[in-house]
Amino acid sequence: MNRLYITTPIYYVNDRPHLGHAYTTILADVIRRYYDMLGAETWFLTGVDEHGQKVQDAAKKRGMTPIEHCDDMQRHFRDLWPQLQVSNDDFIRTTEPRHWNVVQKALSCLYDKGDIYEREYEGWYSPSVERFWTENELVNGRCPESGAEVVYLNEKNYWFRMSKYQERLLAWIESHPEFIVPESRKNEVLGFLARPLQDLCISRPKERLSWGIEIPFDSNYVTYVWFDALLNYATGVGLYADNARFDQWWPATVHLLGKDILTTHCVYWNTFLMALELPLPKHFVAHGWWLIDETKMSKSLGNVVSPLSLRDKYGIDVLRYFLMKEMTLGLDANFSEEALVNRNNSDLANDLGNLLSRVTKLLKKEPFSSVVPARGDETAEDVETLDMVRSLPTTVGDKVRAWKINAAVEDVMTVVRRLNKYVNDTRPFSLVKENPQRAGAVLYNVLEGLRFVATSLWPVIPRKAEQILVDIGWDAGVPRLSTLNFGDLESGCPVQVTQSLFPRHDWVAGASDFPKEVVHESPLRPSPSPEKNMSTENEITFDDFAKLKMVVGEIMEAETVPKSDKLLRLVIDIGEEKRQIVSGIAKYYDPEMLVGRRVVVLTNLQARKIFGLESRGMVLAAADSSGELALITPERYMDPGAEVS
Ligand code: MSP
Repeated sequence: MNRLYITTPIYYVNDRPHLGHAYTTILADVIRRYYDMLGAETWFLTGVDEHGQKVQDAAKKRGMTPIEHCDDMQRHFRDLWPQLQVSNDDFIRTTEPRHWNVVQKALSCLYDKGDIYEREYEGWYSPSVERFWTENELVNGRCPESGAEVVYLNEKNYWFRMSKYQERLLAWIESHPEFIVPESRKNEVLGFLARPLQDLCISRPKERLSWGIEIPFDSNYVTYVWFDALLNYATGVGLYADNARFDQWWPATVHLLGKDILTTHCVYWNTFLMALELPLPKHFVAHGWWLIDETKMSKSLGNVVSPLSLRDKYGIDVLRYFLMKEMTLGLDANFSEEALVNRNNSDLANDLGNLLSRVTKLLKKEPFSSVVPARGDETAEDVETLDMVRSLPTTVGDKVRAWKINAAVEDVMTVVRRLNKYVNDTRPFSLVKENPQRAGAVLYNVLEGLRFVATSLWPVIPRKAEQILVDIGWDAGVPRLSTLNFGDLESGCPVQVTQSLFPRHDWVAGASDFPKEVVHESPLRPSPSPEKNMSTENEITFDDFAKLKMVVGEIMEAETVPKSDKLLRLVIDIGEEKRQIVSGIAKYYDPEMLVGRRVVVLTNLQARKIFGLESRGMVLAAADSSGELALITPERYMDPGAEVS
């Protein structure tokens, strides 16, 4: 396979990201890095799901408009990924115009071909999961999925002829054994498809839910959030916008998802694609849940763990290693800080850290003088160990292609343990006196073993792996898995010892920090800065204040200022004229999200030239103690030019 297009689910912005979200995104990053190393061209998309009832309700709770809430919340996801060493190529928001266009075009296409039709429907509606259920499906009169209350509704809606595609989908799943993995999840989908498939309601009347993408052929309705959300995978690579790009990346190689969103992906999405006459994705890989005390980690249960707190305490490589090693594809895994500490101590500090420090410390001594020793002839004592080392790239590559990342990591750790045994058996530390040449040859073999190990683990622990490569005298960057060749390490290159590359951590029973830092502190407003001393020293008179001329303005244009990562060039309608203002908000707002927004503008500020552009006025924003910015906007609709006083 020479191309990989990998996606994560897009996360609801009703709360901040937790460890479950971090897991899927890190998993995607790890798989993507492995494919890069295997020589594939790769594209990695993640993003956020911003429409629907959940988000509308969350915004309401915070006293914000939905878009204000989304603008604020999406940053918690967007900004988190680089901090977890995740290198996604794109971050999609479903409120972006590029996505609205795709959703509306897809709806029109299905409507025109008769796959969407209008129907009056009476039934039980569950607001919590935003769908209708039949009487028989209810459990004790409540929603079978969420357990929440349901309401009886009679309304006209638009329906997608999902039933029409049931047979085709069944046949496809049966003839493509690798389509849904693991097998247990495939069987679950087949079980679902063994019953007659119903048509799917894909609209919501605006009077009930206004926060969504308008149905192009009926302005009284918005689109069902899942129809909108699933299409993100196609928007992200240019559907209906850039045919060449779309053809380059579609069909997606793999959609990663949690087991709770199996039906929406494997049934809804595939039938949408069939109706749209687009090829189906190659693989759906469904993982289990992270549990705490045998219960799903989730915001509503208040037991979520913040990935950043773990990173701050143990370092990003330890966190990534733990998440990748601990979860077996398809099964749930229990999170505990104790398990993370144990995993770090046994695998990273004891096995890998020890191996590295044993050989690099020995090489500091005479006769080696801190350089890579000469390679010797391979003896019978070496063969088995070196064969394991040499076959590592293939075994790891095979596991990665089967999406079994934890098994790939286990293969690497087996080689690490084998290398430790090899050092114990060959005893280079004693051998150095009687046969320094053979001792050097053994150490050379271990250094090469470590090079294979570090390269094979690089997708999981990029920083530490790069440090290992430097320590063992390899300065040619991270090799590709597909071109690793035993013997490429040159003798004479400098070897160094890095202190505490893999520190041990102590675990004191009962002293867990988790779950302590719950992520759902609500409301999600910035905490107020410590009380300031309101001295009267800097008071101004009312006349001073009256000198400030502030009005409501509507942003007409917004774009980044070339060569500046802080500045945006805005054109703002302030009533009687349009003003160009250069504003330092680029880190906090995407230009395309600003157009159409109403803001407060100080209009009688002296004009200035900033980066060669004339700026006449200032857009007002508030900054909290962490330096985060929020634009000041009127609380309800105001015409441009309305005075602020
Ligand atoms: N917005 C939808 C997905 C739309 S994709 C077109 C959604 N969002 S979500 O934020 O609720 O969940 C996103 C993903 O996070 C799901 O794959 C879900 O399984 C995963 N996780 C949420 N809690 C989790 C754990 N405790 N453990 C592992 N992953 C879990 O559903």
